[in-house]
Amino acid sequence: MGDKEQRTVSAVSDYWQSHPLGVQYNIDKEIKVGSPEFFAHIRPWMNPYKFPWNMERIKREASQLKGKHLLEIGCGMGFDSLEFLKCGVRVTATDLTAAAIELARLHFKIAAVRAEDVRMENVLALSFPDNSFDAVWANGVLHHTGNTAQAIREVHRVLKPGGRAIISHFYRKPSWMFWLSRFGHENIEHKEKDPPVTDFFSEKEILAMFKGFVVEESVQEHYRALPIARRGIKASLYKWGFRPIYNLLPVSIAKRLAYKFTVTAIKTAGPTA
Ligand SMILES: C[S@@+](CC[C@H](N)C(=O)[O-])C[C@H]1O[C@@H](n2cnc3c(N)ncnc32)[C@H](O)[C@@H]1O
Repeated sequence: MGDKEQRTVSAVSDYWQSHPLGVQYNIDKEIKVGSPEFFAHIRPWMNPYKFPWNMERIKREASQLKGKHLLEIGCGMGFDSLEFLKCGVRVTATDLTAAAIELARLHFKIAAVRAEDVRMENVLALSFPDNSFDAVWANGVLHHTGNTAQAIREVHRVLKPGGRAIISHFYRKPSWMFWLSRFGHENIEHKEKDPPVTDFFSEKEILAMFKGFVVEESVQEHYRALPIARRGIKASLYKWGFRPIYNLLPVSIAKRLAYKFTVTAIKTAGPTA
């Protein structure tokens, strides 16, 4: 890894270490982060509860992965991995930061489930041998790494031939979120401070990165604008101007402006290049 890439990884790591996804939804400051009450309190705001299609996808994937080994990349507090574990899938949950790993371990312990492993890993240079996993799940992660193409090459490497990559929550362009970010110079989804990297890609650009895979499904998702916790003029314009008007659009139009894009792809034998 070159110096520039190393600096990006450090900046990304520093950000997520101090802003683990989920803490911003803890509106009752009496609740201790990492306690059973904390996970119950933020649950409605977390994948897969906030986005119902996530739960459907987990159930669908889990039904064919029972007893098989899934790697989660960028697990955060482990909400997605927990659902797979509850369905009898063997899970190795990984994240770049120590904060996420500590919270995911606490979360699994409270839920009385056992993962195969919960550990720090950088998706850009995974420590696992080639052909290790039956499936790889990454939800809202790769576009924050600074090198999505390299991340997908690593996903390909660690998957067994025939293994499934389910990669969600790319920031699609064009989409309403893309235009808001481009003109507002802010990613209003995040409460206090934006992540150092959020890459937007067109569907064509994303699909071109899946070399050595057969794409089974690619879908646009999340076409409604959700409430946000961010404050300030732009956030107020979003809350009181853009959001109510946008959410009145008919589904057929709103759907075309969706900003999440999920790809399910199967690893074929052979190299990625
Ligand atoms: C938006 S959060 C998503 C967390 C979780 N997947 C969820 O849906 O709740 C992004 C996560 O990606 C992790 N991440 C960012 N860069 C990474 C990298 N290079 N390798 C592994 N994880 C990374 C961050 O630490 C953070 O936990």
